[in-house]
Amino acid sequence: MSIESHYKKLHQLQPSAKFSEHYQLDVAYDQQLAAANRLGFWQEKAKELDWFEPWDRVLTWDKPFAKWFENGKLNACYNCVDRHVNTAKKNKKAVVWQGENGDKQTYTYEQLHKEVCQFANVLINQCNVKKGDRVTLYMPLIPKLLIAVLACARIGAIHSVVFAGFSAQSLQDRIVDSQSVCVITTDGGYRRGKHLHLKSIVDTALKSSVTDCVKAVLVHQHSNQPIDVIKTRDILLAEVINQASIEHKPAVMDSEDPLFILYTSGTTGKPKGILHTTGGYLTHAQYSTKAVFDINDDDLFWCTADIGWITGHTYLVYGPLLNGATVFMYEGTPDYPDNGIFWRLIEQHKVSIFYTAPTAIRSFMKAGEAVLQDYDLSSLRLLGSVGEPINPEAWLWYYTHVGQQRCPVVDTWWQTETGGIMISTLPGVDAMKPGAAGKPLPGIEACCLTQEGQRVTQGGGLLSLTEPWPSMARGIWGDNDRFNQVYWSTFDTYFAGDGAVMDEDGYYTVLGRVDDVLNVAGHRIGTMEVESSLVDCQDVAEAAVVGVSDDIKGQAILAFVTLKKGVVESESLRATLKQFVVDKIGPIARPKHIVFTPDLPKTRSGKIIRRILKQIVAGEPIGDTTSLANHDIVDTIKQHWQAQEIILT
Ligand code: WT7
Repeated sequence: MSIESHYKKLHQLQPSAKFSEHYQLDVAYDQQLAAANRLGFWQEKAKELDWFEPWDRVLTWDKPFAKWFENGKLNACYNCVDRHVNTAKKNKKAVVWQGENGDKQTYTYEQLHKEVCQFANVLINQCNVKKGDRVTLYMPLIPKLLIAVLACARIGAIHSVVFAGFSAQSLQDRIVDSQSVCVITTDGGYRRGKHLHLKSIVDTALKSSVTDCVKAVLVHQHSNQPIDVIKTRDILLAEVINQASIEHKPAVMDSEDPLFILYTSGTTGKPKGILHTTGGYLTHAQYSTKAVFDINDDDLFWCTADIGWITGHTYLVYGPLLNGATVFMYEGTPDYPDNGIFWRLIEQHKVSIFYTAPTAIRSFMKAGEAVLQDYDLSSLRLLGSVGEPINPEAWLWYYTHVGQQRCPVVDTWWQTETGGIMISTLPGVDAMKPGAAGKPLPGIEACCLTQEGQRVTQGGGLLSLTEPWPSMARGIWGDNDRFNQVYWSTFDTYFAGDGAVMDEDGYYTVLGRVDDVLNVAGHRIGTMEVESSLVDCQDVAEAAVVGVSDDIKGQAILAFVTLKKGVVESESLRATLKQFVVDKIGPIARPKHIVFTPDLPKTRSGKIIRRILKQIVAGEPIGDTTSLANHDIVDTIKQHWQAQEIILT
């Protein structure tokens, strides 16, 4: 979305009175308290968790490292599960799951407790996992993944969930970086009717001696596929789980003990292991789920994200379970076996809160509203969007056709690094502006800055969070210098990497990344990651990757490739290169198109200037080219691009 279109004053929509009446949060109280005494506010929210021992201090801030609720002791799994089992929620459903093949599973809080305790005992006794050890999870979106996450938290092991769409190479990189001692996986999973052979991907990832840190692979059999069992390393869950005790005492963790690592892409080729700790993360997960989703006892909350992403961590697992809510999980995609599947699931299960990504909304839009007419969506009462900017057209379509103008829409801005939602309207309280995320939540402070770091009072700038918050990242695993350099060295305050506009009501419209990171279908992909996999191919001399706007995915990947001398350009080479990237990173990083070019725009020192490629692709005037060593190439690339553009559209 351009700044110009933002300035075409967004029209406001008032939330329905019915929603407002039942909204449970006393927002005026929270806003006043947070404004008057921010730390006091967060202290009050932290008290809504169960602590084994209280903290001494709310915050110690030694930029860029925060310590929240220092010396407080608690356990994440205890807060998500045990404390509800001790109440009337014991028999309440915690998880309702449906598989792509129609299989169903439900767990009450009591059943979840039993499963998690047994799983924890298996991790300790069979896999020899100890407090502080890292465990990598590579699984489809099934209840066992949620159970495995909670079991790690229960014993104090640090979970690192790797989305099951990543390649063996990406999985290996993450295992090595985190030095995981154990990998939890399944035989396979389902995707659009096909089997994913996850165990064999794990086997490939662990072939090299660089993964010698891994001592055990725990396999849950989910899809009845044959697997190779390596006796000295592999443990089949089914063979050990029944002997495991259903009793387990949760580990007493310090508020600042790590809870998880989650890898995300940055501007270099190497993904960053974002580190989150316990007390602060849980405080905000619990509070933001209540404030933004108004979650309460009768809700069925469906967050469509996979647990492999931060959205799944915070709003599929921790946030809802901390609140004792019921979550819905679905293993499949929105377009299989047909475009009605999501609506059918909402109707059948009576989903009341639905949280998804703009890419999905745009694909629903493309399928047309006629698809919706066959289904009863009256159980829905709140809709959410996350992961990328939502264009006003898609917002209005979602509001009108899915929410039937009855359900507020919350557009939530946040990041892996922020741990939870930072900016959103509060449903039933704030007016909604299609396309704008809204204001920072109580206790969160944001602003827009100029390149020089001056505050912009109204208008566009670089989005920054100006005060520490409980769920902020505590570092990059093993690389605190990079943490400081990426987020804390551009300005005095946290730099999010996004451009944004703030209007006269204090609403933020987030425009997207300003760095060399792409957002493809709500997934963050570093241009450097794709480039380095391309240049690993023996035919490629150089590569530069830029984003090109895409109607459904927001952005798509476009790669400019210079081939080695003597290599002939061809369609089949294009296909090979695309597949090469998929094998290296995963299907989410597949380039939409490859443009062959004899050279790339470079500085005299040989640095590729991506900015010029972006301008060519966007059809914008080419800015300053004085630093270019090879002026002539600009016109050549323009011609090559224009020839390709016809193929693309
Ligand atoms: C990046 C973070 C937060 C969970 C999913 C993605 C973009 C996220 C919005 C939104 C505009 C958004 C930003 C951000 N983004 N939500 N509501 N409006 N942009 O997490 O992979 O860490 O990516 O996603 O560019 O920096 P992530």
